[in-house]
Amino acid sequence: MAMLETERIEELRRALSKPLPEIPSKYLYDDHGAALFDTITRLPEYYQTRTEESILAACATDLIGRVKPLALAELGSGVGTKIRLLLDAMQRAGRMDSCTFLDINEQMLSESIIALRELYPGLEVRGIRGDFERDVDRLGPGGNRLVLFLAGTIGNLHPDAVPGFLGKVAKQMEPGDGFLVGLDLVKDPARLEAAYNDRDGVTAEFNLNSLNVVNAMFDADFDVRAFQHRAFWDAENEWIDIRVRARTPTRARIHAIDMTIELDAGDEIRTELSCKYTRESFERLLEGTGLGISAWYTDDDELFCDALVQRV
Ligand code: SAH
Ligand code: AVI
Repeated sequence: MAMLETERIEELRRALSKPLPEIPSKYLYDDHGAALFDTITRLPEYYQTRTEESILAACATDLIGRVKPLALAELGSGVGTKIRLLLDAMQRAGRMDSCTFLDINEQMLSESIIALRELYPGLEVRGIRGDFERDVDRLGPGGNRLVLFLAGTIGNLHPDAVPGFLGKVAKQMEPGDGFLVGLDLVKDPARLEAAYNDRDGVTAEFNLNSLNVVNAMFDADFDVRAFQHRAFWDAENEWIDIRVRARTPTRARIHAIDMTIELDAGDEIRTELSCKYTRESFERLLEGTGLGISAWYTDDDELFCDALVQRV
């Protein structure tokens, strides 16, 4: 089931009521935010996208040979272009039936579906507008399927939420099915911090835009100019912590949740986490989910990894 309005309201109320108030990171992706993310993927500091593309290009034949899928599905599919590297490998193997995109952003979903239908005539292409934290069951039963969760988007979930999420994905998998998870790996903090504090300020605009999204969706009046972007490496938790920080005292009324938030200069709202993983830390999250790593595809510099996860 798609998220009900009342659930959405309760979710935001809970998030903003935390000792460190939060805005769920899915609110980064209205149409403007989605376009900004697309720009981020091409920034020199943002190594993740081009690295993952090179990994997928190199591993596609091996991956498709192992899983032998007839169907692909991608969670948080966005522009939906990386998947073409895998579809091409499936085409070479002569097996390809269907492809499903699931994303929260309607516009990207419809554009990516149209593009895929044009490129792969005969491929059945389906779109699900939904929240991957709640709606994984809408993929329907598995069997000969490879589900993709690319870009390091799993890192945008709090680690406490990951085992539950993986459990839901596991329920949709049959023996032999695959779940390919893109993981941004722990590395030099300076490199990580640069990726989230780009020189052109695109990430800052992307981050601050989440306040515009909350204003529009929840009838709120955050004064975006009163905030600045902040992103820093938290070595203990191994995540990039992304926040908006009040430059001056400011208050916002969020009418839809009947809440007022008052901030002093320097107070912050967390808008996103981007957790970085090692093989060991990811394996710990898989414990008890019935899933295990069956292939670990990485680049020569070990910046990023696509882990093939299967039922054990
Ligand atoms: N997979 C693409 C896009 C990654 S960006 C790539 O590899 O480039 C993350 C994507 O997840 C965006 O398209 C965003 O709209 C979507 N997204 C973020 N939170 C979501 C949620 N809770 N449910 C569904 N989609 C979500
Ligand atoms: C989508 N996700 C993997 C991105 C990331 O790197 O965590 C989102 C992002 N946030 C700021 N820049 C990019």
